[in-house]
Amino acid sequence: MAKISILPVHLVNKIAAGEVIERPASVVKELVENALDAGAGRIAVAVEDGGARLISVTDDGSGMGAEDLALAFAPHATSKIAGEDDLFRIVTMGFRGEALASIASIAHASIRTARRDEPSGGGWEVEASGEAIGQVRPCAAPPGTTVAIRDLFYSTPARRKFMKSATTEMGHITEQITRLALPRPQVAFTLTHNGRTVLDLPAAPDTAGRAADLFGRELADGLVEIVPRGRRPVRVGGLIGKPSAARPSARWQYTFLNGRYIRDRLLAHAVKEAYRGVVDPSRWPVALVFIEMDPAEVDVNVHPTKVEVRFRDSQAVHGELLAAMRETLNSANLSPDASFTTRPADLGPDPFAAALPATAAAMAAPALPDDARRTSVRQALADFFRAQPPPQPRLGFAPSPAATHPAAFASSATATQPHAPATTAADSAGAYQSEHGPAPAPAAVPAGAMQVHDSYIVVQTDDGLAIIDQHALHERLIYNELRGRLAAGGLTGQRMLIPQTVAVSPAQAAAAASHAELLRRLGVELEPFGPATLAIQQFPSMLAQRGCEPTEFVQETLERLLEDPQADSEVLLERLLQTLACKAAIKAGDPLTPQELAALLARRDSLADKGSSCPHGRPTTLKLTLKDLQKQFKRV
Ligand SMILES: Nc1ncnc2c1ncn2[C@@H]1O[C@H](COP(=O)(O)OP(=O)(O)OP(=O)(O)O)[C@@H](O)[C@H]1O
Ligand SMILES: [Mg+2]
Repeated sequence: MAKISILPVHLVNKIAAGEVIERPASVVKELVENALDAGAGRIAVAVEDGGARLISVTDDGSGMGAEDLALAFAPHATSKIAGEDDLFRIVTMGFRGEALASIASIAHASIRTARRDEPSGGGWEVEASGEAIGQVRPCAAPPGTTVAIRDLFYSTPARRKFMKSATTEMGHITEQITRLALPRPQVAFTLTHNGRTVLDLPAAPDTAGRAADLFGRELADGLVEIVPRGRRPVRVGGLIGKPSAARPSARWQYTFLNGRYIRDRLLAHAVKEAYRGVVDPSRWPVALVFIEMDPAEVDVNVHPTKVEVRFRDSQAVHGELLAAMRETLNSANLSPDASFTTRPADLGPDPFAAALPATAAAMAAPALPDDARRTSVRQALADFFRAQPPPQPRLGFAPSPAATHPAAFASSATATQPHAPATTAADSAGAYQSEHGPAPAPAAVPAGAMQVHDSYIVVQTDDGLAIIDQHALHERLIYNELRGRLAAGGLTGQRMLIPQTVAVSPAQAAAAASHAELLRRLGVELEPFGPATLAIQQFPSMLAQRGCEPTEFVQETLERLLEDPQADSEVLLERLLQTLACKAAIKAGDPLTPQELAALLARRDSLADKGSSCPHGRPTTLKLTLKDLQKQFKRV
């Protein structure tokens, strides 16, 4: 008996859908691409329940006649290519003739359409679901097309299970629309979720206008136009960020090829390379890059969702992109002094700022020189955790939460320690044994302790010696302290008199909404404030006191939350605390004053296990007993 049989069409479609339709955002992408291919000037996307119940896309494009409509859901039916040669000069977003057939195989789909160039011809509608494609029937319809997809994945329960919360799916959907809308400022887009407007992008004169609507004014104002390099086989245009406007993640780097969003490691490398030496390697410049070239020079038929392409001469594309960006960055107006700052006063008319006197503004955001404002969030956080007053100039810790009410924390960071002992070696040795209460702050290093290579601390122990990794230990101490404060009710937040605004991506906005409670525990409160903007209502007091820039801190925090959207809030909290502690801790290579060294060791003694591992699980301490030493020196 033969083992091979030809699969039925509906199964083939389902398999194709498996590749192309990963989640609701994939449906949005396919339908919006079809609308763009139909020459639409306005596209309205309506979503219900994160796309599980309904995704509908309405356009004012060419529309379809009855004959075309009858074929729209058929597999391998397309109006976009006719022969093999066409595959190598693709100028449309679609060409496989597969999207609608795939979607209909896993959902209830319907189309209503009327031809734009024949308004009197009347409209047509058709439904398709699973294996069945219905009859085309006349109906009343405005010129253009509406495609409605209901009950996505109803027939593929496994996929349906993979769908995340409506908030998460909406984050993906907004991101897809962002990618489609950026290269086409002249097309108007709207996105609604359960009737509420999520995106409203009117037709804009240029990319800068579109970027401002998508990402907020603040981000758009930090961009400069790529200087054109004349007519060449590969043309590069778009907007790139001033070095001072670099971000904590690559989220604001978009590369487009002939109007199509693509992911490409080589292009990402060119962007990074262009900013080498100009931007700290831990920061990512904003880049909205549009590459135009002969479609024959690139193969877009290598990836099911077309997000990856193959260039005939990828080095040439890389080189051209690098050159265009370098020339732009070298052009006169980009010296650091010309860069913008993130002070609210610089963000154009701000209703709050105008209404309040300057002193009020100063209270909400401590007045700092621009240079200080620009210090990276890492530095600001690190500074915060290093309470100032002598005798512990950089390492000081607040009293332990057991001894202090959390509400008092805001001021406790600078409180002097009541139990500071006399600074004799004997007292320090006594403190060394202590397991309880606020750690003393000796001004002298315990006998037999020293820092070596600005990285390790060697201490004498009862039965030998210990070598401590200073970064790992400090990290562990800060982490414990934060944990303690959280257990005692969370970190205190300081209400901002004038809420600072922060530009966020749609995904970041979604993360802020879905993790509001978690953020509140950290003392952070954010509220939606216009398109692509959040207002920081409350900010951890401790960070505020240290002059940490709230916008950068919020951005960085939201990025952390996005790294793994599936993780539950305890895991995320843990991760945030670890990150904070790691950033705040002294680093290998930081020299310590004797007072700092003493404070660190005294603090170590308050740890039940003497801090034998850092929060990441790496050891903080290596121990050598006298016995080990004797063995090594062959004394026994
Ligand atoms: N919004 C629309 N307006 C006008 N015609 C449309 C619209 N959506 C689909 N069509 C027609 O239906 C055909 C099938 O669409 P479908 O998305 O399945 O395939 P495609 O766009 O040709 O290729 P791909 O599978 O790569 O997207 C299109 O070629 C087009 O002729
Ligand atoms: Mg298509």
